[in-house]
Amino acid sequence: MSKPPVITLDGPSATGKGTIASAVAQRLGYHLLDSGALYRVLALAARERNLDPRQGAAIAALAPDLTLEFGAGGQVWLNSKNVSTAIRMSKADEWASRIAALPEVREALLPWQRDFRREPGLVAEGRDMGAVVFADAEWKFFLTASAEIRAKRRHKQLIGKGLDARLPDLLRDLRARDLRDEQRSISPLRPASGAIEIDTSELSIDQVVDQVMGFIAAWRGG
Ligand code: DC
Repeated sequence: MSKPPVITLDGPSATGKGTIASAVAQRLGYHLLDSGALYRVLALAARERNLDPRQGAAIAALAPDLTLEFGAGGQVWLNSKNVSTAIRMSKADEWASRIAALPEVREALLPWQRDFRREPGLVAEGRDMGAVVFADAEWKFFLTASAEIRAKRRHKQLIGKGLDARLPDLLRDLRARDLRDEQRSISPLRPASGAIEIDTSELSIDQVVDQVMGFIAAWRGG
């Protein structure tokens, strides 16, 4: 039996991946997996239990008991509690990135992520969707943008939500996080083989969505 189709979108943070993946999923009527939210939620659960972010086995052991629900507009509920804001705070960024370097954590999240692959199809966004989690995906994309542009986008996003943010701090944190994501020994951030790379620095969200949809339409029609 053939598996439902998967489209993967990987790349560093603030490349517009989340918004683009959500728009592509909506246009195709596919399910959506925001894999970063799983790392963020697990990091939050670990913090709530006062675990140290180096305790890989103990953190991984939390995963099977977490019930997660996704709603419209990026809303996330953990065990029926709305954690949408808590998992987007800058401390949550750092913790998610730290636990994401732990092999036990990445392993524990594999079945959880693959469970999102359902009919009629899935758009999965993250860092290793095309390279590891859905290596057999039909279409793989890798989005990039300069660190300065990504920091500006994140700044605008946080200020828009009424949260306090300083551009130089965001740029510094973003570079540190990129480095951790790129240099970790397990599933480092890099394009999957065969992934189509799109530099979003000078493009609007709609332009990127149109490009992605153009590739997919050619594939589906062909
Ligand atoms: O996409 P995001 O910013 O919400 O991801 C949060 C952190 O989780 C990020 O630092 C890298 C990590 N992550 C990962 O290692 N693999 C994924 N597939 C998704 C996220």
